[in-house]
Amino acid sequence: MSGTTPHQVPPTDKLALRAALIERIGGYMTAHSIAVAAELGLADLIGTGSRTSGELAAETRTHEPSLRRLLRLLVAGGIMTEPQPGRFALTEIGSQLRVDSPGSLRNFARMFCDPLFLTSWQGLRHTVSTGERAFDHAYGAGVYDYLAQHPETSALFNEAMSEESRYSAEQLAAGYDFPQAGTLVDLGGGDGTLLTAILRRRPGLRGIVFDSASGVAEASATVNKAGLADRCEVQAGDFFTSVPGHGDIYLIKSVFQDWGDEESLAILRTCRAHMPASATLLVVGTVLPETAGTSTPVMFLTDANMMVTTGGRERTESEFRAMLGEAGFTVQSVGDGDAGPLSVIQAVPALAS
Ligand SMILES: C[S@@+](CC[C@H](N)C(=O)[O-])C[C@H]1O[C@@H](n2cnc3c(N)ncnc32)[C@H](O)[C@@H]1O
Repeated sequence: MSGTTPHQVPPTDKLALRAALIERIGGYMTAHSIAVAAELGLADLIGTGSRTSGELAAETRTHEPSLRRLLRLLVAGGIMTEPQPGRFALTEIGSQLRVDSPGSLRNFARMFCDPLFLTSWQGLRHTVSTGERAFDHAYGAGVYDYLAQHPETSALFNEAMSEESRYSAEQLAAGYDFPQAGTLVDLGGGDGTLLTAILRRRPGLRGIVFDSASGVAEASATVNKAGLADRCEVQAGDFFTSVPGHGDIYLIKSVFQDWGDEESLAILRTCRAHMPASATLLVVGTVLPETAGTSTPVMFLTDANMMVTTGGRERTESEFRAMLGEAGFTVQSVGDGDAGPLSVIQAVPALAS
Protein backbone atom coordinates (compact mmCIF):
# COMPACT_ATOMS: atom_id res chain seq x y z
CA MET A 1 0.00 0.00 0.00
CA SER A 2 1.34 3.41 -0.90
CA GLY A 3 -0.69 4.95 1.85
CA THR A 4 -2.82 7.17 -0.45
CA THR A 5 -6.56 7.43 0.14
CA PRO A 6 -9.04 7.80 -2.76
CA HIS A 7 -8.98 11.58 -2.18
CA GLN A 8 -5.21 11.90 -2.50
CA VAL A 9 -3.49 11.82 -5.86
CA PRO A 10 0.21 11.21 -6.39
CA PRO A 11 2.11 14.53 -6.80
CA THR A 12 2.85 14.12 -10.54
CA ASP A 13 -0.82 13.47 -11.35
CA LYS A 14 -1.77 16.36 -9.18
CA LEU A 15 0.50 18.65 -11.20
CA ALA A 16 -1.09 17.45 -14.43
CA LEU A 17 -4.59 17.93 -13.00
CA ARG A 18 -3.69 21.41 -11.84
CA ALA A 19 -2.28 22.30 -15.27
CA ALA A 20 -5.38 20.86 -16.99
CA LEU A 21 -7.66 23.15 -15.02
CA ILE A 22 -5.44 26.21 -15.42
CA GLU A 23 -5.37 25.60 -19.19
CA ARG A 24 -9.18 25.64 -19.23
CA ILE A 25 -9.35 28.71 -16.96
CA GLY A 26 -7.12 30.49 -19.48
CA GLY A 27 -9.32 29.42 -22.40
CA TYR A 28 -10.22 33.00 -23.22
CA MET A 29 -6.52 33.85 -23.59
CA THR A 30 -6.16 31.11 -26.19
CA ALA A 31 -9.32 32.34 -27.94
CA HIS A 32 -7.89 35.88 -28.10
CA SER A 33 -4.55 34.68 -29.42
CA ILE A 34 -6.28 32.73 -32.21
CA ALA A 35 -8.51 35.71 -33.02
CA VAL A 36 -5.50 38.05 -33.30
CA ALA A 37 -3.70 35.51 -35.53
CA ALA A 38 -6.82 35.41 -37.72
CA GLU A 39 -7.08 39.22 -37.75
CA LEU A 40 -3.44 39.53 -38.85
CA GLY A 41 -3.84 36.78 -41.46
CA LEU A 42 -0.83 34.89 -40.05
CA ALA A 43 -2.05 31.52 -41.35
CA ASP A 44 -2.29 32.89 -44.90
CA LEU A 45 1.20 34.36 -44.68
CA ILE A 46 2.66 31.07 -43.41
CA GLY A 47 0.70 28.85 -45.84
CA THR A 48 2.14 25.35 -46.27
CA GLY A 49 5.69 26.45 -45.46
CA SER A 50 7.27 28.14 -42.47
CA ARG A 51 8.13 31.77 -41.68
CA THR A 52 10.25 33.50 -39.09
CA SER A 53 8.69 35.81 -36.54
CA GLY A 54 10.77 38.62 -38.07
CA GLU A 55 9.30 38.06 -41.53
CA LEU A 56 5.79 37.86 -40.12
CA ALA A 57 6.27 41.01 -38.04
CA ALA A 58 7.52 42.94 -41.09
CA GLU A 59 4.56 41.83 -43.19
CA THR A 60 1.96 42.53 -40.52
CA ARG A 61 3.67 45.71 -39.25
CA THR A 62 3.70 44.38 -35.71
CA HIS A 63 6.18 44.42 -32.82
CA GLU A 64 8.43 41.38 -33.42
CA PRO A 65 9.23 40.40 -29.80
CA SER A 66 5.54 40.52 -28.87
CA LEU A 67 4.46 38.74 -32.05
CA ARG A 68 6.99 35.98 -31.32
CA ARG A 69 5.47 35.47 -27.86
CA LEU A 70 2.00 35.26 -29.43
CA LEU A 71 3.32 32.68 -31.92
CA ARG A 72 4.82 30.61 -29.07
CA LEU A 73 1.47 30.65 -27.29
CA LEU A 74 -0.15 29.40 -30.50
CA VAL A 75 2.44 26.60 -30.63
CA ALA A 76 1.58 25.67 -27.05
CA GLY A 77 -2.09 25.62 -28.05
CA GLY A 78 -1.53 23.23 -30.97
CA ILE A 79 -2.21 25.83 -33.67
CA MET A 80 1.39 26.13 -34.87
CA THR A 81 4.76 24.38 -34.52
CA GLU A 82 8.22 25.89 -34.07
CA PRO A 83 10.48 23.58 -36.12
CA GLN A 84 13.50 25.84 -35.44
CA PRO A 85 13.83 28.60 -32.86
CA GLY A 86 11.93 31.63 -34.16
CA ARG A 87 10.51 29.85 -37.25
CA PHE A 88 6.84 28.90 -37.31
CA ALA A 89 4.61 26.56 -39.33
CA LEU A 90 0.92 25.62 -39.13
CA THR A 91 -0.43 22.40 -37.69
CA GLU A 92 -3.40 20.73 -39.40
CA ILE A 93 -5.66 22.38 -36.84
CA GLY A 94 -4.10 25.80 -37.47
CA SER A 95 -4.31 25.41 -41.26
CA GLN A 96 -8.07 25.86 -40.96
CA LEU A 97 -7.43 29.55 -40.30
CA ARG A 98 -6.27 29.99 -43.90
CA VAL A 99 -8.89 31.69 -46.08
CA ASP A 100 -8.26 29.19 -48.87
CA SER A 101 -8.76 26.15 -46.63
CA PRO A 102 -12.03 24.29 -47.36
CA GLY A 103 -14.26 25.10 -44.41
CA SER A 104 -12.03 27.98 -43.30
CA LEU A 105 -12.70 29.14 -39.73
CA ARG A 106 -10.86 32.43 -40.01
CA ASN A 107 -13.89 34.67 -39.61
CA PHE A 108 -15.35 32.36 -37.01
CA ALA A 109 -12.21 32.90 -34.93
CA ARG A 110 -12.52 36.68 -35.30
CA MET A 111 -16.24 36.70 -34.60
CA PHE A 112 -16.05 34.93 -31.25
CA CYS A 113 -13.77 37.63 -29.87
CA ASP A 114 -16.00 40.43 -31.17
CA PRO A 115 -17.49 42.58 -28.37
CA LEU A 116 -20.90 41.16 -29.30
CA PHE A 117 -19.90 37.76 -27.91
CA LEU A 118 -17.42 38.91 -25.27
CA THR A 119 -19.99 41.16 -23.64
CA SER A 120 -22.60 38.42 -23.75
CA TRP A 121 -20.25 35.97 -22.02
CA GLN A 122 -19.31 38.54 -19.40
CA GLY A 123 -23.01 38.49 -18.51
CA LEU A 124 -23.14 34.71 -18.07
CA ARG A 125 -23.66 35.14 -14.35
CA HIS A 126 -26.68 37.35 -15.04
CA THR A 127 -28.18 34.73 -17.38
CA VAL A 128 -27.57 31.93 -14.93
CA SER A 129 -29.12 33.93 -12.10
CA THR A 130 -32.16 35.21 -13.98
CA GLY A 131 -32.65 33.15 -17.16
CA GLU A 132 -32.46 36.41 -19.16
CA ARG A 133 -30.27 36.87 -22.22
CA ALA A 134 -27.00 38.51 -21.17
CA PHE A 135 -26.72 40.26 -24.52
CA ASP A 136 -30.05 42.07 -24.20
CA HIS A 137 -29.25 42.94 -20.59
CA ALA A 138 -25.97 44.59 -21.64
CA TYR A 139 -27.14 46.33 -24.81
CA GLY A 140 -30.82 46.92 -24.16
CA ALA A 141 -31.63 45.34 -27.53
CA GLY A 142 -31.60 41.90 -29.14
CA VAL A 143 -28.67 40.57 -31.19
CA TYR A 144 -30.41 40.99 -34.54
CA ASP A 145 -31.44 44.60 -33.78
CA TYR A 146 -27.85 45.28 -32.76
CA LEU A 147 -26.50 43.73 -35.97
CA ALA A 148 -28.87 45.84 -38.05
CA GLN A 149 -27.28 48.94 -36.50
CA HIS A 150 -23.64 47.75 -36.68
CA PRO A 151 -22.88 46.97 -40.33
CA GLU A 152 -19.23 46.02 -39.71
CA THR A 153 -20.12 43.45 -37.06
CA SER A 154 -23.00 42.29 -39.21
CA ALA A 155 -20.64 41.74 -42.18
CA LEU A 156 -18.24 39.74 -39.97
CA PHE A 157 -21.17 37.72 -38.58
CA ASN A 158 -22.49 36.96 -42.10
CA GLU A 159 -19.02 35.97 -43.35
CA ALA A 160 -18.54 33.61 -40.40
CA MET A 161 -21.99 32.10 -40.95
CA SER A 162 -21.31 31.63 -44.67
CA GLU A 163 -18.06 29.82 -43.86
CA GLU A 164 -20.03 27.41 -41.69
CA SER A 165 -22.87 27.08 -44.23
CA ARG A 166 -20.57 26.31 -47.17
CA TYR A 167 -18.89 23.55 -45.22
CA SER A 168 -22.00 21.94 -43.77
CA ALA A 169 -23.90 22.30 -47.07
CA GLU A 170 -21.35 20.06 -48.77
CA GLN A 171 -21.45 17.59 -45.85
CA LEU A 172 -25.24 17.39 -45.96
CA ALA A 173 -25.53 17.26 -49.75
CA ALA A 174 -23.04 14.38 -49.82
CA GLY A 175 -24.20 12.64 -46.63
CA TYR A 176 -27.99 12.49 -47.01
CA ASP A 177 -29.72 10.53 -49.76
CA PHE A 178 -31.95 13.22 -51.29
CA PRO A 179 -34.52 12.00 -53.85
CA GLN A 180 -33.80 12.36 -57.56
CA ALA A 181 -37.05 14.22 -58.35
CA GLY A 182 -39.69 16.46 -56.77
CA THR A 183 -39.50 19.90 -55.11
CA LEU A 184 -37.24 20.63 -52.16
CA VAL A 185 -38.11 23.72 -50.09
CA ASP A 186 -35.30 25.12 -47.93
CA LEU A 187 -36.96 27.06 -45.09
CA GLY A 188 -34.71 29.77 -43.66
CA GLY A 189 -32.49 28.89 -46.61
CA GLY A 190 -30.58 32.20 -46.45
CA ASP A 191 -28.37 32.90 -49.45
CA GLY A 192 -29.17 29.56 -51.14
CA THR A 193 -25.76 27.97 -50.48
CA LEU A 194 -27.25 24.75 -49.13
CA LEU A 195 -30.01 24.30 -51.71
CA THR A 196 -27.73 24.93 -54.69
CA ALA A 197 -25.19 22.40 -53.30
CA ILE A 198 -27.96 19.77 -53.19
CA LEU A 199 -29.50 20.64 -56.60
CA ARG A 200 -26.08 20.40 -58.26
CA ARG A 201 -25.97 16.74 -57.17
CA ARG A 202 -29.60 16.00 -58.11
CA PRO A 203 -30.33 17.18 -61.70
CA GLY A 204 -33.98 16.00 -61.55
CA LEU A 205 -34.83 17.93 -58.37
CA ARG A 206 -36.39 21.40 -58.25
CA GLY A 207 -35.95 23.84 -55.36
CA ILE A 208 -37.35 26.86 -53.51
CA VAL A 209 -35.17 28.98 -51.21
CA PHE A 210 -37.52 30.49 -48.63
CA ASP A 211 -36.38 33.13 -46.12
CA SER A 212 -37.21 36.63 -44.90
CA ALA A 213 -36.75 39.48 -47.39
CA SER A 214 -33.33 40.38 -45.96
CA GLY A 215 -32.41 36.70 -45.60
CA VAL A 216 -32.91 35.97 -49.32
CA ALA A 217 -31.24 39.19 -50.50
CA GLU A 218 -28.26 37.29 -51.93
CA ALA A 219 -30.09 34.08 -52.89
CA SER A 220 -30.90 34.94 -56.53
CA ALA A 221 -27.24 35.76 -57.12
CA THR A 222 -26.19 32.39 -55.65
CA VAL A 223 -28.77 30.53 -57.75
CA ASN A 224 -27.79 32.36 -60.95
CA LYS A 225 -24.09 31.85 -60.31
CA ALA A 226 -24.73 28.10 -59.90
CA GLY A 227 -26.60 28.10 -63.25
CA LEU A 228 -29.75 26.78 -61.55
CA ALA A 229 -32.25 29.58 -62.27
CA ASP A 230 -34.38 27.23 -64.42
CA ARG A 231 -35.14 24.88 -61.50
CA CYS A 232 -34.70 26.97 -58.36
CA GLU A 233 -37.05 29.75 -57.18
CA VAL A 234 -36.39 32.30 -54.46
CA GLN A 235 -39.33 33.29 -52.22
CA ALA A 236 -39.41 35.87 -49.43
CA GLY A 237 -41.77 35.22 -46.53
CA ASP A 238 -42.19 34.65 -42.82
CA PHE A 239 -42.12 31.09 -41.55
CA PHE A 240 -44.25 32.10 -38.56
CA THR A 241 -47.07 32.91 -40.96
CA SER A 242 -46.84 30.71 -44.01
CA VAL A 243 -44.49 28.49 -46.06
CA PRO A 244 -44.74 27.35 -49.72
CA GLY A 245 -47.52 24.79 -50.04
CA HIS A 246 -46.43 22.54 -52.91
CA GLY A 247 -43.13 20.99 -51.81
CA ASP A 248 -42.26 17.31 -51.53
CA ILE A 249 -39.44 17.77 -49.03
CA TYR A 250 -39.11 20.63 -46.53
CA LEU A 251 -35.65 21.19 -45.20
CA ILE A 252 -34.99 23.42 -42.20
CA LYS A 253 -31.35 23.63 -41.18
CA SER A 254 -29.76 25.45 -38.23
CA VAL A 255 -32.94 27.40 -37.52
CA PHE A 256 -34.41 25.99 -34.29
CA GLN A 257 -31.20 26.67 -32.38
CA ASP A 258 -32.02 30.39 -32.75
CA TRP A 259 -35.41 30.09 -31.09
CA GLY A 260 -36.95 29.14 -27.77
CA ASP A 261 -39.47 26.29 -27.56
CA GLU A 262 -42.57 28.44 -28.06
CA GLU A 263 -41.31 30.04 -31.27
CA SER A 264 -39.90 26.73 -32.58
CA LEU A 265 -43.26 25.09 -32.05
CA ALA A 266 -44.95 27.97 -33.89
CA ILE A 267 -42.63 27.48 -36.91
CA LEU A 268 -43.31 23.74 -36.94
CA ARG A 269 -47.06 24.31 -36.73
CA THR A 270 -46.88 26.65 -39.75
CA CYS A 271 -45.03 23.93 -41.66
CA ARG A 272 -47.59 21.30 -40.62
CA ALA A 273 -50.48 23.54 -41.68
CA HIS A 274 -49.10 24.37 -45.13
CA MET A 275 -47.14 21.36 -46.34
CA PRO A 276 -48.91 18.53 -48.23
CA ALA A 277 -49.81 15.45 -46.14
CA SER A 278 -47.47 13.37 -48.35
CA ALA A 279 -44.42 15.63 -47.85
CA THR A 280 -41.38 14.95 -45.66
CA LEU A 281 -39.80 17.36 -43.19
CA LEU A 282 -36.04 17.25 -42.61
CA VAL A 283 -34.81 19.09 -39.53
CA VAL A 284 -31.05 19.47 -39.70
CA GLY A 285 -29.02 20.60 -36.73
CA THR A 286 -27.14 19.62 -33.65
CA VAL A 287 -28.68 16.84 -31.58
CA LEU A 288 -27.33 16.97 -28.04
CA PRO A 289 -26.65 13.71 -26.23
CA GLU A 290 -29.12 13.07 -23.39
CA THR A 291 -26.32 13.40 -20.85
CA ALA A 292 -23.37 15.76 -21.22
CA GLY A 293 -19.93 14.30 -21.88
CA THR A 294 -16.49 15.35 -23.04
CA SER A 295 -16.70 13.88 -26.55
CA THR A 296 -18.74 16.72 -28.10
CA PRO A 297 -17.73 19.92 -26.29
CA VAL A 298 -18.57 22.13 -29.30
CA MET A 299 -22.28 21.29 -29.01
CA PHE A 300 -22.36 22.50 -25.42
CA LEU A 301 -20.39 25.63 -26.33
CA THR A 302 -22.91 26.56 -29.01
CA ASP A 303 -25.82 25.77 -26.72
CA ALA A 304 -24.49 28.06 -23.97
CA ASN A 305 -23.57 30.67 -26.59
CA MET A 306 -27.20 30.73 -27.74
CA MET A 307 -28.29 31.03 -24.12
CA VAL A 308 -26.34 34.26 -23.55
CA THR A 309 -26.88 35.79 -27.01
CA THR A 310 -30.11 34.96 -28.88
CA GLY A 311 -31.97 33.03 -26.20
CA GLY A 312 -32.12 29.98 -28.48
CA ARG A 313 -30.91 26.52 -27.58
CA GLU A 314 -29.64 23.19 -28.84
CA ARG A 315 -31.89 20.17 -28.14
CA THR A 316 -31.63 16.49 -27.38
CA GLU A 317 -33.32 13.81 -29.47
CA SER A 318 -36.13 13.44 -26.92
CA GLU A 319 -36.68 17.22 -26.91
CA PHE A 320 -36.89 17.27 -30.72
CA ARG A 321 -39.24 14.28 -30.69
CA ALA A 322 -41.53 15.93 -28.14
CA MET A 323 -41.61 19.22 -30.06
CA LEU A 324 -42.27 17.56 -33.43
CA GLY A 325 -44.96 15.35 -31.90
CA GLU A 326 -46.68 18.35 -30.37
CA ALA A 327 -46.68 20.12 -33.74
CA GLY A 328 -48.34 17.14 -35.44
CA PHE A 329 -45.40 15.23 -36.91
CA THR A 330 -44.28 11.61 -36.63
CA VAL A 331 -40.51 11.17 -36.45
CA GLN A 332 -39.28 8.46 -38.82
CA SER A 333 -35.55 8.59 -38.10
CA VAL A 334 -32.92 10.57 -36.24
CA GLY A 335 -29.46 10.53 -37.81
CA ASP A 336 -26.26 10.55 -35.84
CA GLY A 337 -23.96 13.24 -37.17
CA ASP A 338 -24.83 12.27 -40.77
CA ALA A 339 -24.27 15.84 -42.00
CA GLY A 340 -20.79 16.49 -40.64
CA PRO A 341 -21.37 17.22 -36.97
CA LEU A 342 -25.04 17.93 -37.71
CA SER A 343 -27.81 15.32 -37.74
CA VAL A 344 -30.87 14.88 -39.96
CA ILE A 345 -34.24 14.25 -38.27
CA GLN A 346 -36.77 12.93 -40.75
CA ALA A 347 -40.46 13.44 -39.94
CA VAL A 348 -43.81 13.26 -41.73
CA PRO A 349 -47.19 14.80 -40.93
CA ALA A 350 -48.92 12.56 -38.40
CA LEU A 351 -52.13 10.91 -39.59
CA ALA A 352 -55.18 12.70 -38.20
CA SER A 353 -56.78 10.51 -35.53
C1 LIG B 1 -28.90 30.52 -38.53
S1 LIG B 1 -29.54 30.99 -40.06
C2 LIG B 1 -29.49 29.46 -40.94
C3 LIG B 1 -29.40 29.69 -42.42
C4 LIG B 1 -29.27 28.40 -43.25
N1 LIG B 1 -30.42 27.52 -43.10
C5 LIG B 1 -27.98 27.69 -42.90
O1 LIG B 1 -28.04 26.60 -42.31
O2 LIG B 1 -26.92 28.22 -43.23
C6 LIG B 1 -31.27 31.22 -39.74
C7 LIG B 1 -32.08 31.68 -40.95
O3 LIG B 1 -33.44 31.87 -40.58
C8 LIG B 1 -33.92 33.00 -41.29
N2 LIG B 1 -35.12 33.55 -40.65
C9 LIG B 1 -35.20 34.19 -39.45
N3 LIG B 1 -36.47 34.55 -39.21
C10 LIG B 1 -37.21 34.15 -40.29
C11 LIG B 1 -38.59 34.22 -40.60
N4 LIG B 1 -39.45 34.80 -39.75
N5 LIG B 1 -39.03 33.69 -41.77
C12 LIG B 1 -38.15 33.10 -42.61
N6 LIG B 1 -36.80 32.99 -42.36
C13 LIG B 1 -36.36 33.51 -41.21
C14 LIG B 1 -32.74 33.95 -41.21
O4 LIG B 1 -32.87 35.00 -42.15
C15 LIG B 1 -31.58 33.02 -41.48
O5 LIG B 1 -31.31 32.91 -42.85
